[in-house]
Amino acid sequence: MQTAPAIRVADLCFSWSDQGKLVLDHCSLVVPKGEFWMLLGTNGSGKSTLLRLLSGLAVPQSGMLEAGQPVGFVFQNPDHQLVMPTVGADVAFGLVSEKLSLSETRLRVEEALQAVNLVHLERRPIYALSGGQKQRVAIAGALARHCEVLLLDEPTALLDPDSQRDLVEQVRRLVKTRGLTALWVTHRLNELEFADGAFLLEQGQVVDQGDPLRLRERLA
Ligand SMILES: Nc1ncnc2c1ncn2[C@@H]1O[C@H](COP(=O)(O)OP(=O)(O)OP(=O)(O)O)[C@@H](O)[C@H]1O
Ligand SMILES: [Mg+2]
Repeated sequence: MQTAPAIRVADLCFSWSDQGKLVLDHCSLVVPKGEFWMLLGTNGSGKSTLLRLLSGLAVPQSGMLEAGQPVGFVFQNPDHQLVMPTVGADVAFGLVSEKLSLSETRLRVEEALQAVNLVHLERRPIYALSGGQKQRVAIAGALARHCEVLLLDEPTALLDPDSQRDLVEQVRRLVKTRGLTALWVTHRLNELEFADGAFLLEQGQVVDQGDPLRLRERLA
């Protein structure tokens, strides 16, 4: 049975200024629910812009886009998104608008930290975390909000090879055990072995998609 897509983009056009060049130029793609897809493409091809549009941080000039709600966004640099002094407080911060009871909030934070193996660091100050740990706190924040769709913009760019592998494996496991859907932007071709599929973006258009290992060979 074909499952409904969790992310759908059709004929999307976007420019950062009124008369400017189209950064996304009739872009179309579909990510099925419960799958882990990667988004590849050279610098400036429009990957981060597409994630911004999907998360509602920017509005397209034309075309259609849909993403299962809520959407969680993990930035390349976690220092741009962790705002509270400790791990637990930061994960709880994303729940403020949901008006949960204290015990519900605690449960959500515990569950989310467990999912990324960070329970033991709940009281740790953010400044005393490694880059990979910060990325996992950012992911826990999205999990605590029960996000359906996880958008990750080069989450491993700052990580060493071991931490890189840990993070990509962990996200794959979360996708497969929780029915989440993830779109992961990367320049690191060795991550493609963990993906269900991949898109190649060139000048704002999807020019190739499908088997991640075929795309890895094409780009190697
Ligand atoms: N806030 C912004 N205002 C104006 N132009 C922008 C803005 N953000 C990105 N751009 C431009 O849009 C184009 C696409 O940028 P984008 O950040 O989406 O590329 P990318 O594929 O993520 O590249 P990279 O691999 O370097 O992260 C670039 O030409 C960039 O200069
Ligand atoms: Mg980018």
